[in-house]
Amino acid sequence: MTKQTKKRIGVLVSGGGTNLQALLDAEARGELKSGTIAVVVASKPGAYALERAAKAGVEGVCVERKAYETREAFEAALQKVLEERQIDVLVLAGFMLVLSDQFIKLYPDRIINVHPALIPSFCGDGFYGLRVHERALEYGVKVTGATVHFVNEITDGGAIIMQKAVAIPEGISPEDLQQLVMKEAEHVMLPQAAELLCAGRLSRKGRLVTIDNK
Ligand code: GAR
Repeated sequence: MTKQTKKRIGVLVSGGGTNLQALLDAEARGELKSGTIAVVVASKPGAYALERAAKAGVEGVCVERKAYETREAFEAALQKVLEERQIDVLVLAGFMLVLSDQFIKLYPDRIINVHPALIPSFCGDGFYGLRVHERALEYGVKVTGATVHFVNEITDGGAIIMQKAVAIPEGISPEDLQQLVMKEAEHVMLPQAAELLCAGRLSRKGRLVTIDNK
């Protein structure tokens, strides 16, 4: 029997990197086993996620969006970093930039993202980070959550892989809600989805994603 080689994962980040930490911890525990985190790419210098990568002995690279005049030039630099490291799949873990259609086509059904709401609520252009939770509280929803989805050309519009609901406690602040959704939903689902993707267990037909049995 041939031993299947691990997929090489590139994690794209922009900030604190708690989702990256969940992925690193899952790999250390052996739960993320069909893939290995080969590089962490930050779009901002000084992103704490880079320190998390260093502590885990994973290479961290900064490809600063602001250093490039156009998105094309930025994405060309990003592509180079990923190709040099023979990356197979991309996990967007708190990555605050929208990738072009052209870039996404380089990794068909091999890019996943975590969004801190139950898509199609509170998603799309302008809905990222803390803002998502502020809007959810303003709207008065009683349940929120997180979604892991394939990345396509529409912001937060790709086929849904997993969702997890979180009940909103009365009077909670946006900051505390963000932490709660991360802990109960994002940090649980993202490593699971990454493992399924790397194990080749996700099948997509149009918008419908199914999880294949082992
Ligand atoms: C997470 O809540 C993630 O879902 C969100 O930003 C936070 C990053 O936290 N991402 C988006 O809003 C993307 N649209 P982290 O850096 O601690 O993982």
